[in-house]
Amino acid sequence: MFKAVSRPLPNLKDWRFFIDQWGIAWAEFDREGESQNSLGRRPLEELAEIVAEVEKGARDKSIRGLVITSAKERGFVVGADIREFAGLTTESDVIEILRPVTALFDRIERLPVPVVCAINGFCLGGGLELALACHYRIATRDPSTKLGFPEVKLGIFPGFNGTARSIRQAGAPAAMQAMLTGKMLSASAARGSGLLDQLVDSRGALPWAARKAVLRNRKSKPASFAKQLLTKWPARDLLAKRMRAEVAKKAREDHYPAPYRLIDLFERYGGNDEAMKAAETRAFAPLMVSDQSRNLRRVFWLSELLKGQAPKKLNWRPSRIHVIGAGTMGADIAGWCVARGMEVTLQDVSADQIAKGIAAQGKLFARKFKTKAQRDAAKARLIADPSGEGIPRADVVIEAIVEKLDVKQKVLGEVEGKMKPGAVLATNTSSLLIEDIASGLPDPGRLIGLHFFNPVALMPLVEVVRGAQTREDDVKRGAAFVAAIDKFPLITKSVPGFLVNRVLTPYMFGAMLRLEHGEDKERIDEAARSFGMPMGPIELADTVGLDVCAHVAHILKYSSEGSKLDRLVAEGKLGKKTGEGFYVWKDGKPEKTGRTFDKAEMEKLGRDLVEPLIAEAQKCVDAGIVENADLVDAGVIFGTGFAPFRGGPLHYKAAQAPKPAAQAAAAE
Ligand code: NAI
Repeated sequence: MFKAVSRPLPNLKDWRFFIDQWGIAWAEFDREGESQNSLGRRPLEELAEIVAEVEKGARDKSIRGLVITSAKERGFVVGADIREFAGLTTESDVIEILRPVTALFDRIERLPVPVVCAINGFCLGGGLELALACHYRIATRDPSTKLGFPEVKLGIFPGFNGTARSIRQAGAPAAMQAMLTGKMLSASAARGSGLLDQLVDSRGALPWAARKAVLRNRKSKPASFAKQLLTKWPARDLLAKRMRAEVAKKAREDHYPAPYRLIDLFERYGGNDEAMKAAETRAFAPLMVSDQSRNLRRVFWLSELLKGQAPKKLNWRPSRIHVIGAGTMGADIAGWCVARGMEVTLQDVSADQIAKGIAAQGKLFARKFKTKAQRDAAKARLIADPSGEGIPRADVVIEAIVEKLDVKQKVLGEVEGKMKPGAVLATNTSSLLIEDIASGLPDPGRLIGLHFFNPVALMPLVEVVRGAQTREDDVKRGAAFVAAIDKFPLITKSVPGFLVNRVLTPYMFGAMLRLEHGEDKERIDEAARSFGMPMGPIELADTVGLDVCAHVAHILKYSSEGSKLDRLVAEGKLGKKTGEGFYVWKDGKPEKTGRTFDKAEMEKLGRDLVEPLIAEAQKCVDAGIVENADLVDAGVIFGTGFAPFRGGPLHYKAAQAPKPAAQAAAAE
């Protein structure tokens, strides 16, 4: 943008560095060979060279300011390079890595010339910590600009002194909220909270604004006195208590210690920046080397693996979707696609059902879109289509009608002939085999399964099911479509239950059998939760619907004859949806006595309960239902919510296995 008068440090690989005609030094982050910038060892070492150069230039007055920005098309910095975390095994390893980085950030903060951070796109984790060490922060107002601290999701918290600096800039409530939830903030929200100082309308305006900020020596102001008061005793104690109660609603301390340690840190040192910085490093190290964090980092890696199931370079962009069946699943699938920017035609035999299905999406649109114009545009993209006029134009047709083979065969048989060449034809069946449905089609090689989970908006996984005859191209396009709607695709073989229901069923039926033998349902559910499942298996059965469970049992050949499940179904007690199943339901919640149970007992029972799930997961690997064991773990975590901090059923099993004697001896 500005003319380079000199280019010191010409050998940098991950940064571009030059000094312009006004004596402003520009450090543009452009990590070599990567599409996104992350803070790894080399970029940080090079940044240290840059800082040394600016220190020198400030002394001899040849440099009057520094702008730190990104040269990437998309994004400032996505965070620390978590690939480099893998080699860290001891707390002292971690501290050794952190010290030079925190010292470098301190040097940036202490530079005697103005330091401006110019942000466009993602500014996350370590990237935000770097920004906070600068004197002034400007960002583009673009929707792609997002700031946040996602560290808690990896079982840690900010470790480059971002805890103290974010509290100083934004005040304790806003900064702690950002760090405890990991939620990303828009540019305007970040500006409102004090994490940013200035917004500009376009990327083109960013360097000009940065230049002006340097020339005018602009400095960010710390949070207001009123906000700072909350970091003082006794307000700090009260705030910490309230935060602990909030966190406890979402995560148990023994499963997810990071947010609790962050609150401890704030409670002891909040408001005392220097003490908090030193304590942050000490409290961070044990979290980083904990099993929980290692496993949560694995989950992040597994999510990337799932994204990799979609082909990268496919010259095909689905934009028009046709959904047949406007019931529970069809309407929500349609709504989700619309929320992701697509145009959807929605068909059903019942016009009433279409109207209800469309109306039900209002909630999702209200959550996803802030302005009325955006919501209206979304509503206009969701089109009632009782006679299937959208079929010939659609890039993807998804069938989500009643789970009856002959009806599906008939409907799909009629649809297929009307579709354009190259469009994807999919069924959302949960229990029928793709081959059986496809046998009714003129071109059976075209059909794939796209198995969404309920509730569609919350479940990140979609199984992309390959029938014996399905063409590879259609599977690939199916996976690409799933990625295009921001879900994780998992390619699975067409076998009863696919992957997710196949592993869930023995676990749920194992639990129901215990119930049959007189065990207490609340005890069972609590044990599963203490293992880390999001919901106990009995409550889950009630939530899914006992009729659905009985149907799945039948498909997967679990005998439930004469069982309590069958009796309840016969009495029309189908669980949450009818107000009674194994539990009585009030206001969407099961009635429980709230009894407490012995911790050790819960731990043992929890492990026993997941045993059948793990055994089935292993069978799925052996039978090649998905490509490999990591993908089984990924599917089970994202499809069932299986305790993420355990890293997946197969990973958990391997970690539990006794070490061979020689290895154990060597480890002593
Ligand atoms: P639903 O009963 O809520 O909705 C089915 C809809 O299809 C109804 O609105 C009905 O009017 C319509 N329909 C029936 N025959 C039709 C035809 N010939 N043409 C057009 N529309 C027709 O069912 P739900 O739960 O949405 O399930 C749909 C499909 O999704 C099933 O294959 C089911 O196995 C599968 N599925 C269901 C899940 C769930 O949790 N409910 C989860 C994953 C898959």
